[in-house]
Amino acid sequence: VITVSHSRGEYPVTFEPLQTGFRNLPTDAFVVTDENVARHWGHLVPPELPVLTLPPGERTKSLIWLERISGWLSSEGASRKSTVVALGGGVIGDLVGFAAATYMRGVPYVQVPTTLLAQVDSSVGGKVAVDIPEGKNLVGAFHAPTSVIIDPSTLKTLSARQYRNGMAEVWKYAFIMDADMIDTLSASTGENLEPIIRRCVEHKAAIVKEDEFETKGLRAILNFGHTIGHAIEQATGYSQVLHGEAISIGMVLEAHLGERLGITPSGTGDFVRKCLEEQGLPTRFAGSLEPERLIEVMKKDKKASRGALAFSLLTQIGGCTLVQNVDQQEVLHALKML
Ligand SMILES: NC(=O)c1ccc[n+]([C@@H]2O[C@H](COP(=O)([O-])OP(=O)(O)OC[C@H]3O[C@@H](n4cnc5c(N)ncnc54)[C@H](O)[C@@H]3O)[C@@H](O)[C@H]2O)c1
Ligand SMILES: [Zn+2]
Repeated sequence: VITVSHSRGEYPVTFEPLQTGFRNLPTDAFVVTDENVARHWGHLVPPELPVLTLPPGERTKSLIWLERISGWLSSEGASRKSTVVALGGGVIGDLVGFAAATYMRGVPYVQVPTTLLAQVDSSVGGKVAVDIPEGKNLVGAFHAPTSVIIDPSTLKTLSARQYRNGMAEVWKYAFIMDADMIDTLSASTGENLEPIIRRCVEHKAAIVKEDEFETKGLRAILNFGHTIGHAIEQATGYSQVLHGEAISIGMVLEAHLGERLGITPSGTGDFVRKCLEEQGLPTRFAGSLEPERLIEVMKKDKKASRGALAFSLLTQIGGCTLVQNVDQQEVLHALKML
């Protein structure tokens, strides 16, 4: 068990089979999942628990589905003491977590992440949100779960692409804070991921404990690769590249940016590229993207204050720092490597 401490208490992250995890849930629990997860793992949900199954995909992370989930909870008789269970990837975790944050002004919820990305990243830390047409995660809250149940065996039904997508976030932890993990990752065949997932959750828990609300510049280091990655996702309409793929490209470019600025030791960008290439992740964008357009998108990034660009940049492999007010011209140069 890994314990995550936050401002209002703490919660356990347990590693156990889904069956055991579900057995220990409160009886007054309501499960929300998506069709893919239901098809592969729905049979493990105890039959007495009500289940709502949503269409899969980022488009479900919307206010419309927030309203439908809330309506469903109400019609099923969920009370202020009921527990909502988010069974699925980051889309379900963020959406259902936000529904739990707002239903009756907040009810307890349990995260049961079933993608690698959700197990190593989104299920821990209490950030919940939905998207609106103007931007991703623009409406949301901090709402800590009451527990996180991780069963790594659920990952065996993930597609290879979704697996690599999660591995991008795993590599990110290695690059920003855990150089010792690099050899393990290079040697990994994708079997027995539990030790790797544990290590990532421990890192995330340590950061959340120190800087839950991202006000001290610590949690923001998790955004390595994300300033450029988010811009790529947004500029391409969230359709061509997955989040992990976008940040893979972003990590390479931001490592080169750090080199240009004299913050990142030279050669680091090439090292990052090699690691991610061997993982089968993209390190450059195949389509046509205007660097100038990406800069405009970046200025709207949540970390950018009044148009000044902020980046989490590597100080070494296994260390990083948040850098404010990065010169646009330098970013443009790095982007031209696209
Ligand atoms: N809250 C946070 O701190 C945080 C952090 C990172 C990402 N996110 C959010 O997470 C979302 C992305 O999460 P994701 O990558 O898990 O996407 P996702 O939830 O869309 O899952 C990816 C795909 O895998 C399917 N799937 C899920 N589990 C499966 C399984 N075990 N077997 C087979 N298929 C399965 C899903 O149905 C979906 O089609 C984004 O919306 C992002 O904003 C949130
Ligand atoms: Zn990410």
